Amino acid sequence: MTDYIGLPKAEVHIHVEGCFDADDVIRNCEQAGIPLRAPREKLFEAHDLKSFLEMLDWLCGTFRTREQLAVTAYKFARRMAKSGVRYADVIVNPTHWPHWHRNIPGMIDAFDAGFAAAEQDGYSPVGLCVSLLRTQSSKDAIELVELLSRTRHPRVVALSIDGNEAAAGRTGPRFAEAFRRAASAGLRRTVHAGESSGPEGVRDAIELLGADRIDHGVRAIEEPALVDLLAQRRIPLGICPVSNIALGVYPSLAEHPIDALRKAGVPVSINTDDPALLDTTLEASYAACAETFAWDSETIRQLAATSVHASYADTAVKARIL
Ligand code: ADE
Ligand code: ZN
Repeated sequence: MTDYIGLPKAEVHIHVEGCFDADDVIRNCEQAGIPLRAPREKLFEAHDLKSFLEMLDWLCGTFRTREQLAVTAYKFARRMAKSGVRYADVIVNPTHWPHWHRNIPGMIDAFDAGFAAAEQDGYSPVGLCVSLLRTQSSKDAIELVELLSRTRHPRVVALSIDGNEAAAGRTGPRFAEAFRRAASAGLRRTVHAGESSGPEGVRDAIELLGADRIDHGVRAIEEPALVDLLAQRRIPLGICPVSNIALGVYPSLAEHPIDALRKAGVPVSINTDDPALLDTTLEASYAACAETFAWDSETIRQLAATSVHASYADTAVKARIL
């Protein structure tokens, strides 16, 4: 029986917004006099990506104070420890947070305080990927990169894009200049693509945005030449199999392309996306995939090692994990 918790691994595709405790959200609502969107058992209920992203806006809107953000970051690190995650790149999208999106430096500082306190207490290090929403403008994107370049907070490791590709049309050309500037400023670049878009979104992420990692990327499987490109250039995919089933990208794990991508030589890793909202854990995702695809222990160990190589941890941290 494989010990999925003990496996040395990183989580490289997970959102702060997907890791809330229901108790914290309810407490925020009580403190601020906000009516709950649904009874406790249905607080995290959504049926597709669109309703899921709307729910994120509501959940994040309950977080008003610096202390609430710092506690969220601390609890994030504690959640990672429970799954045996030795390093995490976590995505935060300021557009979901109505009380913070005009104070992004304050938001980063508050999360940083929580991650730093967690590390002091022995939890694993965390890097922050600050995300654009697909529907933002080219001007918004450049402003975010300028802000990140000016403030150069050591917690921030990457620029990211998330949100619904289907709602925003082709976004590669719109964000190309911002991504070029992010690369010049020394930021890494990770892009959601090939989840709510087809393979063309993955190609744009590589060719127009210079992504050095793709979040999801699974629908690249529909274009064999693109699969070859990912394999040849060793561009990692941060795949979230349980999320893809929950949000309707594939009907079942058996029909999910993670194993076909792995066999084609693409560096794939297993991640959770939004584990609290989707009621899953990283170890459960590993176990479900291993069972579905009959992976042996060496294959599982390699997938876990790929997650560490694909992460934005610095080389000393990677060496310590592997
Ligand atoms: N933000 C949080 N989860 C997401 C997902 N699965 N796709 C796009 N944006 C997201
Ligand atoms: Zn995601």
